[in-house]
Amino acid sequence: MHTLIFATNNQNKVEEIRKVTNGLFNIITLKEAGIDIDIPEPHNTLEANATEKSTVIHAMTKENVFSEDTGLEVAALNGEPGVKSARYAGEGRDFQANIDKLLVNLEGQTDRQAQFRTVVSLILNEKEYLFEGICKGRITVEQKGLKGFGYDPVFIPDGADKTFAEMTMDEKNQYSHRKKAINKLIDFLLA
Ligand code: IMP
Repeated sequence: MHTLIFATNNQNKVEEIRKVTNGLFNIITLKEAGIDIDIPEPHNTLEANATEKSTVIHAMTKENVFSEDTGLEVAALNGEPGVKSARYAGEGRDFQANIDKLLVNLEGQTDRQAQFRTVVSLILNEKEYLFEGICKGRITVEQKGLKGFGYDPVFIPDGADKTFAEMTMDEKNQYSHRKKAINKLIDFLLA
C-alpha cells in the first residue's frame, strides 16, 4: 500500500479525500508528520501552487507527497477569484468575507455560471504528476447551508438543487471537483 503525505493544513480537505480514497492508501497529514508550516501559494496558476506545496514538503521529508490547489472560477468575473480564491477579500483568508465580496461583485448579474477547479500534484519516486478535476455549477444569490467550507454555501453544482453547504460529504462527493481529481490519482496509483 502506498504511503503518501498530504501537504495541506485544511482538515476539511483531509476528511473529503480520506472518504474518497477509503483506505486504499495510507494518507498522513502534515500534522501527523509533525510538520507545522504555512506553505506559500505565491504563483498565479493552480498548477504552480500545487507543485509548490508538494515540492516544499517533499524537500523536507523525502517522502512521496501529494497536494492540491483549488479555485472558484466565475464566468462573469473573467475567471476570478480563481487562483486568488482563498485571499479574495484579503490576507485573512476569511470564508465569510470572501463570500460577501463575491455576492456583491455579482449583484444584478444574471450570468451566475461558475466552476470549481482542483489541480492535484503528486510527487512519487522523485517524479511529478498532475491531475485535474472540474465541477461546473452556478453561484446563488444568497448563501444557504452550514456544512462544508469556503464557498460551499453559494455554489450549486449542475444537476443538483441545493448548495454544497446543504449536502452531506457523501452527497458533495458525487459532484466534487476534488473527488474527480483524486479519482484520477487513484486510477494512476492502482494501475
Ligand atoms: P486552496 O486550495 O486551499 O488555496 O483553496 C482556495 C480557496 O478555495 C479556499 O480558501 C476555499 O475558500 C475555496 N475552496 C477550495 N475548495 C473548496 C470547496 O470544495 N468548496 C468551497 N470552497 C472551496
